Amino acid sequence: MKIKSICCIGAGYVGGPTMAVIAQKCPNVKVTVVDINEARIAAWNNEDLSKLPVYEPGLDAIVKDARGRNLFFSTNVDAAIDEADTIFISVNTPTKTYGKGKGMAADLKYIELCARQIARVAKEDKIVVEKSTLPVRTASAIKSILDNTGNGVQFQILSNPEFLAEGTAIEDLLKPDRVLIGGEMTAEGEKAMQALVDLYASWVNRDHILTTNVWSSELSKLTANAFLAQRVSSINAMSEICEKTGANVAEVSKAIGMDSRIGPKFLSSSVGFGGSCFQKDILNLVYIAKSYGLDEVANYWEQVVLMNNHQKNRFSDNIINTLYNTVSGKKITFLGWAFKKDTNDTRESAAITVADNLLNEHAKITVYDPKVSEEQIFSDLEYLNSRDPKQNRALLKVEKDPYLAMKDAHAIAILTEWDEFKAYNWQKIYDHMLKPAFIFDGRRLLDHEMLKSIGFECYEIGTGNASQ
Ligand code: NAI
Repeated sequence: MKIKSICCIGAGYVGGPTMAVIAQKCPNVKVTVVDINEARIAAWNNEDLSKLPVYEPGLDAIVKDARGRNLFFSTNVDAAIDEADTIFISVNTPTKTYGKGKGMAADLKYIELCARQIARVAKEDKIVVEKSTLPVRTASAIKSILDNTGNGVQFQILSNPEFLAEGTAIEDLLKPDRVLIGGEMTAEGEKAMQALVDLYASWVNRDHILTTNVWSSELSKLTANAFLAQRVSSINAMSEICEKTGANVAEVSKAIGMDSRIGPKFLSSSVGFGGSCFQKDILNLVYIAKSYGLDEVANYWEQVVLMNNHQKNRFSDNIINTLYNTVSGKKITFLGWAFKKDTNDTRESAAITVADNLLNEHAKITVYDPKVSEEQIFSDLEYLNSRDPKQNRALLKVEKDPYLAMKDAHAIAILTEWDEFKAYNWQKIYDHMLKPAFIFDGRRLLDHEMLKSIGFECYEIGTGNASQ
């Protein structure tokens, strides 16, 4: 069989870019991305490509190329399901905020709703692809819903987790390290897997397309994120030792990264990882381990998240300690709010925790981020429910001009590694700040020798003899 028409449920950070690339690379396949969020779909259809709901370098050009040709964005979920031979489920799977597994397990209510909708609407056999990151064995739950409420239609469930990283999504989708496809080891399952392999083979070398059983595929995604986050927490743990001992974490990273068994990537120390996935997926893994009674395994992985929380908290503690143990009423400017550069995504961004800690101390924060909207920043703070929304707005300001944002500040905190921060006129910034002028570099981004020669008091994560 050959895939001719795709419906993707969920037009978010994964569904949008992934489907745009499939549509561009497979011009003969009709790709319809659907979402219940009308504003999001309207933004995907916006003529002005700078208004797309997801910011990713290179995404606008691909959307421009394919949209209206074989790529469509719609809120008509039923029609798109009906028409497609293959349905990707790419909805959000956040950590549960209620009931059993609260704060740990993945909330699968959106997935289940999709499965029920597919079961209700489908009149012909279909392939259903799990694109969302799901707990191992979710495919059997989806299958049971589809088999029991469907219209006698045959479904093949495949797991095809997405490994793109935000900020480099298009590059990652065009040249993936690997594509992973899990399916049932039956003749029908093999056929469905082959159809998806053939789709990806339009642009990905077949050697990079792996097929496995469904459970291995589901678990591989959680494992990949756990390993990646573990590397960040490991180097961050070393950063604290570096600060105490006079070692430099960049030198340590380089020295260990040249060991081919360790490798150089993902060894940058920072204020802590963020993003919608790492924490959620590790907590989910911890929950799965606990549910099988594997307490040692659960505790082992939980430490990765606990270390990350510690890294964020010690960053804000250091700001407070350095500013003479009080930040009350002091202007502190945040450069960056997104969880990493080149994305407008702020989910679980370290900036949110650091801001919350400083607001608890009545600091006055001004935020500048080149891609994140004011509305998003306040919504992130309100979600924490730490204080009255009015108080958030009284204590925190969002500024569109970085130089104005830093004027009269006591301290600057770098929370995101946006390249443009390196190119600022730091002498001019220093001249307009209160003295002593402090910089807390949570991303090891700036040239600290240059900053010190201007007169700044610098603190850099992971560098010994920090001013603390
Ligand atoms: P997102 O929150 O940006 O997008 C999900 C979209 O699904 C939302 O727009 C929502 O309105 C829509 N949706 C929810 N229920 C729906 C329904 N019943 N019908 C139609 N639309 C519905 O989420 P994101 O970041 O795209 O993540 C999706 C999945 O991909 C998650 O499981 C995540 O763990 C996984 N993932 C995310 C990566 C990332 O970098 N963001 C990378 C790899 C995997």
